[in-house]
Amino acid sequence: MLASRRSFLKTAAFAGAPLILPSRVWAQGAQKPKMAFIGIGIQGRGLLGNFLGQDVQVVAVCDVDKTRREHACQTVENYYKNHPDKGTAGNCKIYSDFREVIARKDIDMVCVATPDHWHAYITIAALKSGKDVYCEKPLTYSIGEAMAVLKTSRETGKLVQTGAMQRSAFEFRTAAELVRNGAIGKITHVDCNFGGPSRPHRDYENPANAEKEGAPNPDVDFDMWCGGAPLVKYSDRLAPRGVHNFFPMFWRFDDLFGSGYCGDWGAHHLDIAQWGLGMDASGPVKIIKSTAGIPTDPILGGRRQEGMQMVFANGTVLHHNPFSTWGTVFYGTEGIVAVNRGKFAMWHGKACAPDDAVRAKIQDGSFDGCEKVSFYRKKEDGGSCDAAAHAARKAFLKEAKIKLYQTKGGHPADLVKCFTTREQPCSNAEVGARAAVLCHLCNISYVRDAAFEWDPVANTFANGTGDPAWLVRPQYRNNWAVV
Ligand SMILES: NC(=O)c1ccc[n+]([C@@H]2O[C@H](COP(=O)([O-])OP(=O)(O)OC[C@H]3O[C@@H](n4cnc5c(N)ncnc54)[C@H](O)[C@@H]3O)[C@@H](O)[C@H]2O)c1
Repeated sequence: MLASRRSFLKTAAFAGAPLILPSRVWAQGAQKPKMAFIGIGIQGRGLLGNFLGQDVQVVAVCDVDKTRREHACQTVENYYKNHPDKGTAGNCKIYSDFREVIARKDIDMVCVATPDHWHAYITIAALKSGKDVYCEKPLTYSIGEAMAVLKTSRETGKLVQTGAMQRSAFEFRTAAELVRNGAIGKITHVDCNFGGPSRPHRDYENPANAEKEGAPNPDVDFDMWCGGAPLVKYSDRLAPRGVHNFFPMFWRFDDLFGSGYCGDWGAHHLDIAQWGLGMDASGPVKIIKSTAGIPTDPILGGRRQEGMQMVFANGTVLHHNPFSTWGTVFYGTEGIVAVNRGKFAMWHGKACAPDDAVRAKIQDGSFDGCEKVSFYRKKEDGGSCDAAAHAARKAFLKEAKIKLYQTKGGHPADLVKCFTTREQPCSNAEVGARAAVLCHLCNISYVRDAAFEWDPVANTFANGTGDPAWLVRPQYRNNWAVV
């Protein structure tokens, strides 16, 4: 059955009840949450390792790939055999259909690390069945789905932690706190540096496996892997088999399953921009389309790869540039803060708007437009990332009024803590949904080669620009419709 759900957009909006619930100890008291993992590829494997060390009991693992789910179960059993203080061995069940996991009343929490096109459906089903959710980033495949997840989290009171774990890292929190406390004045520009948009679907031939491609394989349920997306020809480039480290899987770049680097890395660096700008409950009001050259590689579908800009209501302009040393760079009337994983820099003194020359000097540290407070990208720079961030904190955050959410022990541990306290976690449903909206606005602008205005309250296009059809998957396959 094919379902068209554009009508959803008429009624869906982000406006709603505040997300912060009163802090209270849940009925479970001291009992630790029973947890399930759905989607155990590369990231799911890493998250499983992390959560096993937390105060949870893993009782279920689910993947459409037999090798992966069996391997994950073995990991759980071995862990509990070797760490009996952490949990009980012999309790982990294996599933290929996530609906059986969701139906289990005894499970309190699920971790969703499937490809993006499954995030919303599984997250919403889990929330509705009374479970808290750790869902990987970007929170959803589309803007309509982001609204649906947020709405369900609000209605059920169940928690969502989005896997945008840069918010748990000291350097990113420091950057955002500096900006929020006015250490570099009023923010005029932000650079977010990551790769390009999604690409048109194609057949992904892998010569090494030519005769196996497309052949039914009892060890992988590829129909279920495709879910609400069209059932395409199987390729192990799209959905690699077994326990492996093939990266990146091509589903990330494919229009049907992901949103290219705009979703993959935008979910990290745009999220940090939102945090620094204090936009977690809002978003931009205008998207200026790129005028960069159109690439000739046919795989890229004639889509520009950089140069889109977003304008916020206060006039701040966010620029999307290609991957660079820095993930997010804030430019203010009194300096610059630049940050990436394990990298931190700050300059202070006067206004510095970005252009090619400024960006190049910020990359190599030669920028002398104002005073360098600290700078660390790699060992050769001397010191450490933490030391560079600490130096900036010492100089500008001693009496900071605004203190941002500080997780203890990382994003997974933060959700486990919130399971008991019932407080909203660091990257809660609204934070994750808003970041996903930015990712998709960015991707839409490239895919449609469009400029448009945006209403961050109603979460729809404004002033007759854009097309609401761009906010949702046109049709979902089978019974997998989300919106
Ligand atoms: N936070 C981060 O830094 C980070 C890093 C990498 C990946 N991710 C995110 O994690 C998610 C997974 O990425 P990955 O790199 O592990 O991809 P992957 O392809 O290795 O893993 C996805 C897994 O989901 C399984 N799957 C697909 N459909 C399923 C279904 N219906 N039910 C159960 N299992 C299903 C696949 O078989 C596969 O094992 C993505 O959303 C990605 O963006 C986040």
